[in-house]
Amino acid sequence: QGLKDVIGKDMLIGVALNKWQSSGGVPEATAIVRKHFNSVVAENCMKSENLQPREGKFYFDAADSLVAFARDNNQTLTGHCLVWHSQVPRWFFKDKAGRTVTRDVLVGRMRRHIKKVVGHFKGKVRGWDVVNEAIEDDGSFRKSPFYSIIGEDFIEIAFRAAHEADPGAELYYNDYSLSNPAKRDAVCRLVRRLKSKGVRIDAVGMQSHNGLDYPDLSAYEASIDSFAACGVKVMVTELDLNVLPSPKGFSGARIEQDFEYHKRLNPYPEALPDSIYRKFEQRYLELFSIYRRHRHQMSRITLWGISDRDSWLNDFPVHGRTNYSLFFDRNYAEKPVVSKIIELW
Ligand code: XIL
Repeated sequence: QGLKDVIGKDMLIGVALNKWQSSGGVPEATAIVRKHFNSVVAENCMKSENLQPREGKFYFDAADSLVAFARDNNQTLTGHCLVWHSQVPRWFFKDKAGRTVTRDVLVGRMRRHIKKVVGHFKGKVRGWDVVNEAIEDDGSFRKSPFYSIIGEDFIEIAFRAAHEADPGAELYYNDYSLSNPAKRDAVCRLVRRLKSKGVRIDAVGMQSHNGLDYPDLSAYEASIDSFAACGVKVMVTELDLNVLPSPKGFSGARIEQDFEYHKRLNPYPEALPDSIYRKFEQRYLELFSIYRRHRHQMSRITLWGISDRDSWLNDFPVHGRTNYSLFFDRNYAEKPVVSKIIELW
């Protein structure tokens, strides 16, 4: 029995795949996906820097093999992501002379990217993270080039373009730290504004890069209710648990160079102590009991990676750590938390 056999009755249960996994090149990963998940998303290969590294030159090979993987293994596919200030190619905001482009030029580039990409995957992707991370923690718009050059309606323009390119696709707004009330309220205002203008939006994605002691779970749960009250579904889109200390107060440069600092930030290079594993497991169980309670408001839970070996949290926000964030260990062995979640559900 896999996760999908129980959770799948209520919502999609998915996982992010890197390109080695989504090309089918990692048999252990394929077996895990088939057993436990009914939904996949690209960890990187559908981001703009990979799809359109130079203007007008699109490279779909890696993403197409994910499409084939999803088809062959009966997985629903999510598109991640169309408009994001990160992992966007440098040419996007500059003209040939290196000057910042005008609003008209950027709107044109953004729409062309969306049209081409959404058109290419039309009918193959269930829905798109149309805009990722556009709101700051204080509820203001992130001062990204998209916002600074186009203005706040870049979001509406992006959603409309995606809808035109594939009217059958669901459209999502995706962000992190959504249990923060100021940020949550700003996202609710955004959703309501889009809806009042007749713009399609199906769900808010809560990334959920969580830790052992954050976010506050009652605030997190309240956010699920708030988004649902705006008339959209809620999805947990990038779930993982960072079990390592946060580098707050350390400067990035010193962490890289200073062995002592690095040791403090990487306390379990060989194995995770049992006491910390128990906290990790407890935390996941609390999260999944929240998801179960809110299953009527939710449409998907996606883990941000299969195994600890592949997790981006080994390198973020500090490089070269040994993190223990996911459901499968570095040898793709299943952790006991998986069957406990199955039991809980
Ligand atoms: C991360 C990937 O996991 C890494 O491999 C990559 O180097 C950086 O991006 N929020 C998102 C994801 O929306 O796309 C990010 O994924 C993690 C944070």
